[in-house]
Amino acid sequence: MFVTHLECSACGRQHEWSRLQNLCLSCGKPLLAIVDLAAASRTLKRDTVATREKSLWRYREVLPLPDDVDLVSLGEGGTPLLRAQKFGGDIDLWIKDESLNPTQSFKARGMSVAVSMAKHLGATKLAVPSAGNAGGALAAYAARAGLEAHIFMPRDTPRANIIECRELGAHVTLIDGLITDCGAEIARRKAKEGWFDMSTLKEPYRVEGKKTLGYELAEQCGWELPDVILYPTGGGTGLIGMWKAFDELEALGWIGTKRPRMFAVQATGCAPIVRAFEAQEKTAAEFPDAHTIASGLRVPKAIGDFLILNILRQSNGGAIAIDDEEMIRVAREVGSSEGLFIAPEAAACFAGLKSLRSEGEIGSGERVIVFNTGSGIKYLDCYQDR
Ligand SMILES: Cc1ncc(COP(=O)(O)O)c(C=O)c1O
Ligand SMILES: [Zn+2]
Repeated sequence: MFVTHLECSACGRQHEWSRLQNLCLSCGKPLLAIVDLAAASRTLKRDTVATREKSLWRYREVLPLPDDVDLVSLGEGGTPLLRAQKFGGDIDLWIKDESLNPTQSFKARGMSVAVSMAKHLGATKLAVPSAGNAGGALAAYAARAGLEAHIFMPRDTPRANIIECRELGAHVTLIDGLITDCGAEIARRKAKEGWFDMSTLKEPYRVEGKKTLGYELAEQCGWELPDVILYPTGGGTGLIGMWKAFDELEALGWIGTKRPRMFAVQATGCAPIVRAFEAQEKTAAEFPDAHTIASGLRVPKAIGDFLILNILRQSNGGAIAIDDEEMIRVAREVGSSEGLFIAPEAAACFAGLKSLRSEGEIGSGERVIVFNTGSGIKYLDCYQDR
């Protein structure tokens, strides 16, 4: 285990990794794990990675769990990178299919690592506000770990997510409000109830699990990063995690300086990052009256907003919003052309791709990655009757 400490992403204050930590004790911003990459690279090599089991834990040296501690795993990561058959047109389009993870979404990556660490550091009751998929993933990994899961979801979360959490033995509370209201309810009660807060970026290890998206992508692309990545952005952990992975990979000497242009895709009814990007703001104001069928994008205020905006600018990428009708239409187009029943969040990315191509923001022949972050099966209430 080569994590040396946690560092605040805003003020740089250092924190111990070996205690349960939430936000920076000075400024209240997210903490990120710092890995001693020189030490990790003694056993972690590009060619040995390929020989290990196909799970995100094959990058164990850059993940935060001591060697002698059992991990909480359901076989997450190692998902396929599929070449698009038709949808890409003249683009070299690839789809990273995260719906093949346990609980059918990329949220499994973050929860496998974060639940492993929370258990190791002594937490017994884990709480999370969730738009749906994060709740399902926490419920599964908490059950596997023998810990309690307390999940707060907006009442209009897709039914499949709610049922899934209950069947996995979690305590589920439905809230008349948005994910931010769910988070506020946890913050209000957690000290009294003894819950450890597993909210997006309010603990440091979900992003470590998500960074394996970046490691896998680099590996599957032959250690040369693509030209463009489109990512459906709610809280932004995947975007932040991948960017961290790219810096680590460069420090390991496994990739060069080339970075993809990173695009955040949001819903027209909830697009705080798009608004802030266009207004050249450093942080994003809370988006009023947030609504979209893509429940994972119904995040009106993200604590990592400044990190997301920074990545979009540094990478020469951007931010784009897609309306719900377009998501539904494009989901069917992807389904019939590629054979994947995708989540509406992912459909937003495919729609974003079309629009960026027609505006000339993406050129012919460029290598583009789109994430299918979750399965369409969880969203039957969105797709039925349309
Ligand atoms: C299917 C799906 N895609 C994308 C997202 C957004 O992910 P993030 O919060 O990491 O930006 C979510 C979050 O719930 C999701 O469930
Ligand atoms: Zn700080």
